[in-house]
Amino acid sequence: MNTLGKTITCRAAIAWAKNSPLSIEEVQVEPPKSGEVRIKMISSGICGSDDHVLKGELVVNFPLIPGHEGAGIVESVGDGVCSMKPGDKVLILIIPQCRECDACLHPKGNFCYKQDVLPCSGVMLDGTSRFSCRGQKIYHSFRTSSFTEYTVVPEIAAVKIDDAAPMDKVCLISCGFPTGYGAAVNSAKVTPGSTCVVFGLGGVGSAIVMGCKASGASRIIGVDINEEKFPRARALGVTDCLNPNKLEKPVQEVVMEMTGVGVDFAFEAIGLVDTMVAAWNSCNNSYGVCLIAGLAPSDAQLSLEAPKILSGKTLKGVCLGDYKTRDCIPQIVTDYLQNKINIDPLVTYQLPFNQLHEALELFHSGKAIRCVLLF
Ligand SMILES: NC(=O)c1ccc[n+]([C@@H]2O[C@H](COP(=O)([O-])OP(=O)(O)OC[C@H]3O[C@@H](n4cnc5c(N)ncnc54)[C@H](O)[C@@H]3O)[C@@H](O)[C@H]2O)c1
Ligand SMILES: [Zn+2]
Ligand SMILES: [Zn+2]
Repeated sequence: MNTLGKTITCRAAIAWAKNSPLSIEEVQVEPPKSGEVRIKMISSGICGSDDHVLKGELVVNFPLIPGHEGAGIVESVGDGVCSMKPGDKVLILIIPQCRECDACLHPKGNFCYKQDVLPCSGVMLDGTSRFSCRGQKIYHSFRTSSFTEYTVVPEIAAVKIDDAAPMDKVCLISCGFPTGYGAAVNSAKVTPGSTCVVFGLGGVGSAIVMGCKASGASRIIGVDINEEKFPRARALGVTDCLNPNKLEKPVQEVVMEMTGVGVDFAFEAIGLVDTMVAAWNSCNNSYGVCLIAGLAPSDAQLSLEAPKILSGKTLKGVCLGDYKTRDCIPQIVTDYLQNKINIDPLVTYQLPFNQLHEALELFHSGKAIRCVLLF
């Protein structure tokens, strides 16, 4: 059926309100406007940031179609789109790259001004939505939305990838993998022989562990309250596992005792203020570097002992691994195809889209590192 220029009716998951179960509904997806692309989704991961949205920890507009860690095939393009064409394999990008704003033009910046995470408007760049259900407007999630058979995103929030990419897995290279791996190799630049601690051993934390291991870290301490995460984390390179709920002292004190001087690199991949503080306090006072990859709730404030910043350690936030997304993400896919990196251990389950609720259960129970939805 030729869908060009027509509204497509398809299935999508809708969150009608915060903390309400997702329901799979028939939705209408309008054609892409100027500077936009409509994509047939092939796969989507479930990322911790989607969970923050669904729980209302991040202020967003409901109803919305969640999901942002997606891989698909371009169905049609709007006027002026020249970086991709129908039939191209693409990844969608929670952090776009407009190549015009201050962040995009600065050599170190990647938090493009056209992102829709902080804050989340839920609409496209022209202020309108492309989704509706039973006549009601449905918001986008992070200007992406991947829990749907078709989505529309700005051209700057998608990137063409290698034709040989296995589409049932590479969705992880849209968010979780580069976020974690890049935090270690690109942002922290973990050094050979160093000691690291990773708070949170989910999708992002596991990719951080892979980056630390690839960089030659000699000790990688993994921290999680779900011990089901520990065997897989050890297989990826974690040398010591800590469950803060089973320790007699605060976890940062235990890390200090284990290392004597504190770690060289601490990473937070949970999104909680307490674990951000614990990561900071696990670092070596003089040269330790603390990287925050977790997304804290919208109203959270971070409080640190101010005098201790003087001793020289560094606190840094990191979004999407500090990668300029459209420039760097395709190369990560190619590196995967050339066996330079391996995302396979992160894809622990794959389920058809109509088993979304089973997939969410695998995510919430912690049985999955990533459960990939297949459309
Ligand atoms: N910076 C970015 O660009 C970026 C990108 C993707 C995700 N994120 C954020 O990174 C965080 C992690 O995402 P994810 O996809 O890995 O989520 P996830 O749910 O897969 O992993 C989170 C892990 O933290 C553990 N955990 C929860 N509470 C804990 C606690 N109190 N102490 C220790 N461990 C605890 C869970 O058991 C789980 O293993 C989220 O906040 C997400 O929003 C940020
Ligand atoms: Zn994500
Ligand atoms: Zn930009």
